[in-house]
Order: sequence, then structure tokens, then C-alpha cells
Amino acid sequence: MDSLQDKIATLDRHRMPVHVAMIMDGNGRWAKRQGFMRSDGHAEGVSTVHRVTKMSSDLGIKYLTLYAFSTENWNRPNEEVSTLMYLIGWAIERELPELLRNNVRIHLIGDIERIPEDARKRLFDARDATAHCTGLQLLMCLSYSSRWEITEAARKIARKVLKGELDLDKITEETFADNLATAGIPDPDLLIRTGGEERISNYLLWQIAYSELYFTPVLWPDFSDSDYADALLDFQNRERRFGKTSEQVQNED
Ligand code: IPE
Ligand code: IPE
Ligand code: MG
Repeated sequence: MDSLQDKIATLDRHRMPVHVAMIMDGNGRWAKRQGFMRSDGHAEGVSTVHRVTKMSSDLGIKYLTLYAFSTENWNRPNEEVSTLMYLIGWAIERELPELLRNNVRIHLIGDIERIPEDARKRLFDARDATAHCTGLQLLMCLSYSSRWEITEAARKIARKVLKGELDLDKITEETFADNLATAGIPDPDLLIRTGGEERISNYLLWQIAYSELYFTPVLWPDFSDSDYADALLDFQNRERRFGKTSEQVQNED
């Protein structure tokens, strides 16, 4: 097996994904395997977030979108939800100095008003403190689900039509994209899901229309820099055709 340095050296810096999205799954199973509480798995998962953010920033990836808590995750036992909310607030505050040092800007995506006040305040503080950062743009999806986001977009568009600000017949795909929480951000090139499940779980349904999907059985707390490099190398070996033929794509190159 190649070392991490070898893998990184093999990466073609001209063909890096601009936007990587991740579904960070498998914390609970990781904990169970070690005989720990599920919350211990979430705590361990924070170190993976730290590493993945650093590596993305070092590799010059422009956007990293992380699914940290879904709308459906509110249905988990109260105790787990409380621990997760506490951890999110604690982690963002602890990471802030390093995020600033690395010029990383935090964006919050989701129904953030549902997040308990203490964690929400820390999240808003981190978002505001990093607003000037121009390096990696880190999008944290919290209390997020794609159907929630799409419904919100439909409501925003309908309101503009009702107010006469938008002509019904002028609604395009761009109009729709511009009213999503990810307005102005290019669609993910690569979506990585850890934890072995091969499903999307209500994540970025509109935005991943043409993303390359990468599923790995590695549980999120175990997802190493080397595993991340494997995903990036796999991405670079794919031919993105966007509906065209392979010959057309090769001629364009
Ligand atoms: C992902 O890990 C973290 C969140 C969904 C918040 P899980 O908690 O879903 O871990 P598994 O899937 O039960 O192993
Ligand atoms: C998806 O993981 C949500 C996050 C990673 C935040 P889940 O563990 O909630 O997904 P399902 O329920 O197994 O599809
Ligand atoms: Mg899970």
C-alpha cells in the first residue's frame, strides 16, 4: 500500500474537485464496536472533521460541504441529540483559531433556528468571525435536509412571483439554484459517504445531479487522510461526460 505522501504526490493538482461534499456516517457503529457509547463515536468523529478540513485546505479544494446533522436526526433519542448539539457548539469554538489561521470560512446551511441557543450562538460567532476568510469555504449542513431546502426555495420563488418581482415564465433552473441555501456555490464534483451505506439520505438532491459518488465502508472516525486521498484518486480516474460521448469529451480535452 502506498504511503499517504505517495498518494498525494500522485494527485493531479490540475484535476482536483472544486467542491467536495461528505456524508459523515458511521460514528455510532464505530463506538459500538469499541464497546463505547454512541456519543463517544460522535466525539471521535470531530477529529476526522478536523483532519478532513485541514487536508482539503492544504490541497486547495475550494468548497467542502459536511452533513453534520439532518432534519431526520432530530428523531434520535433526546440524549443523543443533546450530546450532538453540545459537541457541535464545543467543537466549532475550539476549532475557530485554527480555522482563522488557515483562512477557512464557515457557512451554515439548514434550519439553524432549530439548533439550541447555546450551540447556535457559537456557530453564528464562528460564521461571523470567519466571514472575511477567502481560503477553503466550509459549508456545515445542520438541521438540514434537501427536501426542506427545496421546499424553502419553492416558497421564496412563489413569494417573488406574488410580489411581482419575478415573471412566472422566466423561472429557470438558475432561478431555482439561486434560491437554494447553496446559491452562488458550484455543485459538488465529488460526494463521499463513509460508513458503508449506499444512499443519499436527503442530502443535496438538486446539487448532486452530476456529482461523482464515492461510497466507502470505512466508518467516519476511522476515515484517514489516506482514505480521503483514495477517494480523490478514484475521482481523478473517472470520465465526467455530462451526457456527451466519451469521444466528444476526449476531443474537448
Ligand atoms: C453519523 O454517524 C453522525 C450523524 C448522523 C450525526 P451515525 O450516528 O449515523 O452512526 P451510525 O450510522 O449509527 O453508525
Ligand atoms: C446521514 O446519516 C446524516 C448525517 C451524516 C448527518 P444517517 O445515519 O442519519 O443516515 P440514515 O438514516 O442511515 O440514512
Ligand atoms: Mg448513520
